Amino acid sequence: DDFLATVAEKSNGAALRGNYEKADEQYVVAQDWDAYTEEEHELWRKLYQRQMELLPGRACDEFIEALHKMDASGGIPKFDRTSEELFAATGWRIVAVPGLIPELTFFEHLANRRFPITVWLRKPEEFNYIVEPDVFHDYFGHVPLLFNPVFADYMQLYGKGGLKAMKLGGLDYLARLYWYTVEFGLIKTDKGLRIYGAGILSSGGEVEYCLKPGTPSRHIRLEIERCLQTLYKIDSFQETYFVIDNFQQLFDGTAPDFTPYYERLKRLDALPANTLLPGEVELLP
Ligand code: PHE
Ligand code: FE
Repeated sequence: DDFLATVAEKSNGAALRGNYEKADEQYVVAQDWDAYTEEEHELWRKLYQRQMELLPGRACDEFIEALHKMDASGGIPKFDRTSEELFAATGWRIVAVPGLIPELTFFEHLANRRFPITVWLRKPEEFNYIVEPDVFHDYFGHVPLLFNPVFADYMQLYGKGGLKAMKLGGLDYLARLYWYTVEFGLIKTDKGLRIYGAGILSSGGEVEYCLKPGTPSRHIRLEIERCLQTLYKIDSFQETYFVIDNFQQLFDGTAPDFTPYYERLKRLDALPANTLLPGEVELLP
C-alpha cells in the first residue's frame, strides 16, 4: 500500500521490518506474547538491567517510579496487563503494531489516548544501537511517563496537533518538537537536570552523555518556536537538548494555536542542530 511504498522509497528500497499482513486498518495487531522466545526474554532482561544501572540520578523521578510499578524486569511484558493499569491511571491504552506506521495513523492513536508499541525485539547485535524503534524502546522508553497525568495530556494534544499540522503543512516543524521533548527531552529539578525523553532513556550511551558537563552539546531552556525551527540528528547523540521546568510548562507552552508559528517558520531557514542564539544560556556549563 501507499505507506509501505513510501517507506521503501525513503529507505532506498530496504523492506520495512515487521509483519504487516495481519494488521487492521489502524495498523493494530495482536501482541502474540507466546511467540517470543526465551532468548528474546533474556535479551530484554539484559537491556532492562543495563538501563536500570544507569538511571538513578539521571532519569526523572516520575519515570523511575512508574517503571517500578510496571514491573517489566522479568522479560518482555504482556501489553494487556500494562494497558489496564495505564487505563486506570490516566485513561491511556497500549496497542501493538508491527513496526513503523503512517503518520496519520500514529497521530490518530495519540489523539485517542492509544500508544502504539512495536511488537518485535531487536537482535542481540543491536544491543547498543538500533535504527528503528523496537519493543524495548517503545515500551521501556515511552510507557512510564504516560502514567503522569500532565504528560499524558500533552501526548494526546500532540496527536491532535499532528492531525492539524498535516493540513497546514507544519509536519516537519511539529516533528522537531516531538523529537526534542518526547524523545530527547531534559527536565530541571531541584536535584539537577534529569532525563524524561524516551530516546535517551532507552539508549545505553546517551543516558550518560546527555548530562555530562563539558561535551560539545547544548542544554538550553525549551522555547516552542525556537524548537520547531531546529534541525536534529538521527544518527548521533543530540547536539542540543531542550530543558523544561516541569511538565505543565510543556502542556501550557504547546496549547496555543500553532498556525501563525508555521506561517512564520515557512519564511525562515531552519537552525542547525548545534545553534546557540544570542541570549541563550547553557544550562550545563
Ligand atoms: N496547539 C497546537 C496547534 O494548535 C497543537 C499541539 C499541542 C502541538 C501540543 C504540540 C503539542 O497546532
Ligand atoms: Fe520513540
